[in-house]
Amino acid sequence: MSEFDIIKKTKFPNTIHTIKRDLINLGLKEGDIVLVHSSMSKIGWVCGDELTIVQALLDVVGQNGTIVMPAHTGGNTNPDSWSHPPVPETWREPIRRTMPEYSINNTPTRGMGKIAECFRNYEGTVRSNHPQFSFCANGRYKNEIVEKHDLTYALGMNSPLGKLFELNAKVLLLGVGYSNCTCMHVAETLVGKPNLVKKGSAINLNGNREWVWYDDIDYNSDCFDEIGMLYEKKHNDVVYGHVGGANCRVLNLKNIVNFTKDFLEENNNLNLSYKKCDTEDELYIYKEFKNKLDLYEDVQKIEYEKVLNWKKENLHSEISDCTKILCNGKYIGYFSINEENKKAEIDNFFISEEYQNRGFARKALNHCLDIIMQKNISMVYSYVFTKDERQIELYTKCGFVVREFIGDNRCVMSKKIQYN
Ligand SMILES: CC(C)(COP(=O)(O)OP(=O)(O)OC[C@H]1O[C@@H](n2cnc3c(N)ncnc32)[C@H](O)[C@@H]1OP(=O)(O)O)[C@@H](O)C(=O)NCCC(=O)NCCS
Repeated sequence: MSEFDIIKKTKFPNTIHTIKRDLINLGLKEGDIVLVHSSMSKIGWVCGDELTIVQALLDVVGQNGTIVMPAHTGGNTNPDSWSHPPVPETWREPIRRTMPEYSINNTPTRGMGKIAECFRNYEGTVRSNHPQFSFCANGRYKNEIVEKHDLTYALGMNSPLGKLFELNAKVLLLGVGYSNCTCMHVAETLVGKPNLVKKGSAINLNGNREWVWYDDIDYNSDCFDEIGMLYEKKHNDVVYGHVGGANCRVLNLKNIVNFTKDFLEENNNLNLSYKKCDTEDELYIYKEFKNKLDLYEDVQKIEYEKVLNWKKENLHSEISDCTKILCNGKYIGYFSINEENKKAEIDNFFISEEYQNRGFARKALNHCLDIIMQKNISMVYSYVFTKDERQIELYTKCGFVVREFIGDNRCVMSKKIQYN
């Protein structure tokens, strides 16, 4: 949003005084230890820009308090895993060879926002030593918080987040939602036996810049919004309020981590299974298809009845190619895989509403990709509605990219399958 648009939307300028008042109204006080995730543009126009917010936060918690912010550096990672956007395959090796090493003093934050970047540069701020997931801290407990940061389980108990857990910190979500509530990842490190993947970063090793490989969890925040909503229903310790025009929440870090852990444990015990469809499933898939069409298609511009009839007939003849997704025996969705010339299309991919936001769609899509890989197929694609942001995000997370737009409302997303 341009500054001009922000000025137009702001009734009165936010100042250091109004921001401090708003933070105090959110329950923040002298001595608090607060992990802050923020979006500046949501606040409205601020006199003094992001420095005002940093100053106000430090003033409210005072000399006995501590402010912490993420200082993540997502650019210093293995380019094979990049999807927003991906880079050509031929670039990846040169990127690994030349990526500047992580430097506590010099590497800027990436995607953390102006407030976090300003905080990183603020006098007295210290930073932890992780090439991808560092945190910055300022105030009484700053050194204890940043001193230990393991390469593996970077968002686990041996990281600044673990220290914040021990110190009973608060979390301030300033204009952002639970999907940015990084501490919830701690729970992922505590549940069962987490799947580790290979990660890489450039670091300084014994005085030399080196690209190092290490294991960590493929952290996933897909269900954090849902977990947050459930948490709010069951706990009454979330304080809602505003900083300027930004919706804010303050919550207890330990409580949300424990709640997330319980949720994930329960979810992990829910196993997905798959079964061939039969004629009884035709109506369910048809309903899911119609629902998406009504939501995302410009129904005035298409031959609506004709499209629905075509789907009905098509399903009738191809239902045995469709698969039903079951969770502990209960139907939760569908998919089908059509193959032609070493290419596979994923079609009829639906997860019913009550099972969305729980990571099941990703599990089911990965299952589809496993099936496709067993067939030695080189390319997989799917037709997606351009307004179906959830589906686009899901496919992107699994390595698909938008290849082509079809008319105003659809696009083709595809993924090249890599065989090692
Ligand atoms: C990505 C994210 C930072 C984007 O938020 P944002 O508000 O668009 O961006 P910033 O916080 O950097 O603020 C910059 C914007 O503030 C606005 N701005 C500029 N001057 C301003 C002023 N004086 N007063 C108020 N707003 C101003 C502008 O719109 C500016 O955007 P521009 O740089 O494109 O011109 C945010 O959505 C987010 O995810 N924050 C949480 C990050 C996090 O903690 N992640 C943890 C790991 S998941």
